Amino acid sequence: MRPLALLLLIPLLACDVVRAPEGSGEGSGLVRTVSAGAANAAAAADGRVAFVVPDLADVPPGEIGVAVRRGRALLEHTRDSLPQFVGNGLRCTSCHLDGGTRRNVMSWVGVYARFPQYRSRSGAVIDLEERIGDCFERSLNGKSPAYDSREMRDMIAYMAWLSRGTPVGRETEGQGLPPLAPVKPDTAAGRRTFLAECARCHGEDGQGLIPPATPLWGPRSYNIGAGMARLRTAAAFIRAGMPYDRPNTLTPQQAYDVAAYMNGHARPDFKGKEKDWPNGDPPPDVAYQTTARRR
Ligand code: HEC
Ligand code: HEC
Repeated sequence: MRPLALLLLIPLLACDVVRAPEGSGEGSGLVRTVSAGAANAAAAADGRVAFVVPDLADVPPGEIGVAVRRGRALLEHTRDSLPQFVGNGLRCTSCHLDGGTRRNVMSWVGVYARFPQYRSRSGAVIDLEERIGDCFERSLNGKSPAYDSREMRDMIAYMAWLSRGTPVGRETEGQGLPPLAPVKPDTAAGRRTFLAECARCHGEDGQGLIPPATPLWGPRSYNIGAGMARLRTAAAFIRAGMPYDRPNTLTPQQAYDVAAYMNGHARPDFKGKEKDWPNGDPPPDVAYQTTARRR
């Protein structure tokens, strides 16, 4: 696919997010008709807050609006805007698709209301700044901007704006990734799926062929400490978000196969990874030994 065609696709995909979830009963009509923002507090069928993406045209005027827009720009142009903090070929929205507004692909809609939060990987209650810092250090293989820096505040301002109306402590429909029941991956089959379904954008060498498609392994990819380096997370992401132009078309088996093929390649190390999950409770798909677990 040509770069232009890919660019044209983006607005189409962006429209997708306000569509009602498949098979949802009660919540769906509401999601479709109520204006953004007001609907945020409405409950979805499962008790989570309904997934509503506010319209960028409704960003408030004045300094706060400037911060929200600057935050979004940083998350979309992370390498160009913050080169000193990025150590690979990715941007934040390489994984948090459509500016973090894509349902079921680790969306930031409602995320401000989900912090502070206990994270077993840190073994501590962390705030949103630390979570963002983690993705800088691991997913972008770089380092975090200071928690009280203007850049950090701008990114938080954007995420808070995406979360307005969401009661503190409530979960949002379409957050995170829909879990995929684990199956035994077949790496050889994964290579075939990769060549058939992924290489046309990411390249046969997995280094990113058609921008904004990015490197999937090697020195310019996410590091071993990143969530995407875990098999289950990668498979769930690939199933929900890839192939970019045809998400949700791989079978769960294909998603696991291709995730195993992708994560079977070398990538940057993450210094201090053995200190993760200090309470000795790493999930089963973590690709490295942790000190607490060994004891
Ligand atoms: C290589 C893919 C990747 C990139 C690039 C990436 N992230 Fe993430 N991010 C993840 C994964 C995986 C998770 C965990 C999602 C889960 O477990 O549901 C996550 C989670 C998050 C969360 C918490 C979401 C929630 O619902 O609790 C925030 C906030 C976040 N990332 C911000 C960022 C920022 C800011 C950047 C850029 C500095 C970034 N991410 C870059 C993969 C990525
Ligand atoms: C039509 C082009 C296209 C195809 C086909 C495609 N991708 Fe992507 N992929 C993208 C784009 C574009 C992004 C980054 C999105 C952005 O920056 O907005 C991306 C991002 C990713 C990411 C997160 C960022 C990173 O580099 O780690 C992974 C992982 C990924 N793709 C894996 C796959 C896999 C596996 C397949 C095959 C099943 C696949 N993609 C097929 C275009 C594509």
